[in-house]
Amino acid sequence: MLQRSLDPLSRPFDDELDALLSRFRRGRALEVDFRELVGNSSATDRFTHRMHPYPAKLLLNIPLFFLNCSQLAKPGAVVYDPFCGSGTVLVEGLVRGAIVQGADSNPLARLVSRAKTTPIPEDVVDAGLEVIWSSLPRRGSKPPSGSIDLEKWFSPKVLSQLSRLRQALESIPEGPAECFFKTCFSAVVSRVGLTDPTVPVPVRIDARRKSLTKNQRKLRKQWLTDRSTADVFGLFELCVEENFERLRLLSEQCSNPKVSVFDDARTAPGDGLVDLVISSPPYGSAQKYIRSSSLSLQWLGMAGSGLRELERQSIGREHFSLSERVEMDAPLLSSKALLNKIGKINPLRRHIAATFLIEMRDALSRTCDRLRPRGQLVLIVGNNTVCGYQFDTQNYLTEICEALGLELQLRLEDHIRSRGLITKRHSTAGLISKETILLFKKIR
Ligand SMILES: C[S@@+](CC[C@H](N)C(=O)[O-])C[C@H]1O[C@@H](n2cnc3c(N)ncnc32)[C@H](O)[C@@H]1O
Repeated sequence: MLQRSLDPLSRPFDDELDALLSRFRRGRALEVDFRELVGNSSATDRFTHRMHPYPAKLLLNIPLFFLNCSQLAKPGAVVYDPFCGSGTVLVEGLVRGAIVQGADSNPLARLVSRAKTTPIPEDVVDAGLEVIWSSLPRRGSKPPSGSIDLEKWFSPKVLSQLSRLRQALESIPEGPAECFFKTCFSAVVSRVGLTDPTVPVPVRIDARRKSLTKNQRKLRKQWLTDRSTADVFGLFELCVEENFERLRLLSEQCSNPKVSVFDDARTAPGDGLVDLVISSPPYGSAQKYIRSSSLSLQWLGMAGSGLRELERQSIGREHFSLSERVEMDAPLLSSKALLNKIGKINPLRRHIAATFLIEMRDALSRTCDRLRPRGQLVLIVGNNTVCGYQFDTQNYLTEICEALGLELQLRLEDHIRSRGLITKRHSTAGLISKETILLFKKIR
């Protein structure tokens, strides 16, 4: 354990880890329920975890378990998450007194991760709010342009309020306060769009769908009313208040957080070596991080030269132009037969899967370079199907890690109960039903 803390969920898990290590035999995963193992699984609103929604967030019990094992994390350890998403590992690392580093190719993920790990003083929040309200224009200008027609996704009233608020946010100088307020703004955007909250990518709320029950229709009608008439300014003020309180609790736990967030796992800089890596990599073709974030990215002017360009940096993406679909060899010998079978059914799916493996190899290679000798790496990996075939990402990533000089120490399986954030929007790539947790040690 890194440090004694005020955190009720913080207790050593060394005995539990030792027991698992002694039971583990190569080739057979051990079944584990991290909700039971760590307990108090309802405590998801701890510290800053709920500041902003994000698709396929990691179950916080998993990093919490490993960070509380003294074999893995000593006081002052550097903990790194190369696919940090909304920063679950970074927050739990800070709570345990670690120096934390993350990387994510999605600019919204980087913004949220920074906001969730950077406490700001109350007077800075109060002064920021004053600046925002005093610079609120009387009328909203046109919403930011880009590949999405924002007018389709928000009612006219909400669109106008969001535009005014966004303009006012420009008066906040660059820095932690800007990051905090933009995160709150984006959290409000996710609550007031005419988007179905049960689907992670933007899909219009459809209250008339035939397959819906009477109650489900009623609920959707309510969502449409609530979201069309939402009071954006009131929601923003409330979000600022709640998120500030979350940050305050975090700052009580760690007074001087040391955090760095980089752009891409494959090229992440960072001086010095890291002691422990904990990460849930992107899924091979079942999750669309950029599309899920697209409304916020456009509102915040983060889409740069377009969402497609951002997607291109995202591992596990599904869109490839014809010119990008070049013939490629199977990146791992063990994947050759399966990729050929997939290719016969759907050549694009083969290309997506092969690209995923190549890019994951690059990302893991860079991550392994950054890991100190004897340092450990925990990967939380989802399984999926491609064209009806089981695509065992966990086996391929194990093979890649072993070739990079890491030794497999433990393989656990936890069955996912809530699949709420996973999309199944097409018939050739399927759902994730379990997570495999792999623990490696760097031996050379
Ligand atoms: C399973 S999610 C991580 C979720 C995170 N653990 C959380 O709790 O929020 C995988 C993340 O990998 C990111 N990603 C995809 N390609 C990447 C790349 N090249 N470098 C870094 N991150 C990348 C995605 O944007 C996504 O946020």
